[in-house]
Amino acid sequence: MFSRIATRQFSSSAANAYKVTVLGAAGGIGQPLSLLLKLNHKVTDLALYDLRLGAGVAADISHIPTNSTVKGYGPEEDGLAKALTGADVVVIPAGVPRKPGMTRDDLFNTNASIVRDLAKSVADNAPNAAVAIISNPVNSTVPIVAEVLKSKGVYNPKKLFGVTTLDVLRASRFLSEVAGTDPTQEVVSVVGGHSGITIVPLISQTNHKNLDKETYEALVHRIQFGGDEVVQAKAGAGSATLSMAQAGARFAGAILNGLAGEADVVEPSFVDSPLFKKEGIEFFSSKVTLGTEGVKTVHDLGELTNAEAELVKTAKETLVKNIQKGVDFVKANP
Ligand code: NAD
Ligand code: LMR
Repeated sequence: MFSRIATRQFSSSAANAYKVTVLGAAGGIGQPLSLLLKLNHKVTDLALYDLRLGAGVAADISHIPTNSTVKGYGPEEDGLAKALTGADVVVIPAGVPRKPGMTRDDLFNTNASIVRDLAKSVADNAPNAAVAIISNPVNSTVPIVAEVLKSKGVYNPKKLFGVTTLDVLRASRFLSEVAGTDPTQEVVSVVGGHSGITIVPLISQTNHKNLDKETYEALVHRIQFGGDEVVQAKAGAGSATLSMAQAGARFAGAILNGLAGEADVVEPSFVDSPLFKKEGIEFFSSKVTLGTEGVKTVHDLGELTNAEAELVKTAKETLVKNIQKGVDFVKANP
């Protein structure tokens, strides 16, 4: 705590001094994500927790000369609680990745309990933190975290996020490839959830409304199943890690920009959403404006084509089941 206060004093503005904790920091995503967070000047205190190698990754990253303290933690000596205490943002990429032939839902049995247990510690040690969930299946792990936080009386729907930013990055990149444009200028709203047919890119809201049917359908399919390309190319050695680290750092950076009171910070995210609650869908990804308290505004989907409306309808049918599976898991295994 002392080092955090000291860091805040040395930083140019208290509003730009934040503690970020990564749970699963030594993994394929965790390491490059932690590296990128070390380069974010709003992060003045970086806490890296993993079952193994947390201290090693922290020692390595700590030599980079940016204005932040980096500390590594493992499960010994109450490391998880120490890593979380005082955190403003907690990013969670802990859990197993897919192998070829698996769906994200096939990870549920392993990752559900990992995420549940980490969420319990977040509730106990960082109840006011913004929590960004990367661990798959995101459509179910986010509801799991919500249920745990509710059971401990600290659930804040404005501060729980499923990270869908990788779908947004892929949509920009893949659209630019078919349109022959600069990917950095392609902004695509991706809504729904984070798995296969629940991922719905809204291409009609870009400058490329008039793609021919075949190109459009192939593009949508590639965005929905982009994760499989990486899983297959890595041939059993895991799933996207480097592009995910970039996506995670971008999303955590957006949360920090919002907390710092910057204007117009908008990213899609899978959040507790009013959009389809009447249909029993508690969580949905859409554009979210981020502010000093976390979620400031959940944006509606805007105008959709018939094809997009059909994709959203299909996504909702799967999402409602994925969300219920997470809720049921915590009820059966508190
Ligand atoms: P990985 O196996 O390389 O790393 C996972 C890390 O989590 C390991 O270092 C492991 O020790 C750690 N870990 C496991 N249980 C833990 C616990 N209880 N506490 C702390 N740390 C723990 O896997 P990865 O490639 O980094 O992927 C991690 C997760 O992210 C997977 O579930 C994967 O499916 C998911 N993922 C999500 C997205 C997304 O877009 N949201 C993208 C890519 C991957
Ligand atoms: C992704 O979209 O790359 C991740 O969700 C990892 C995966 O399993 O595909």
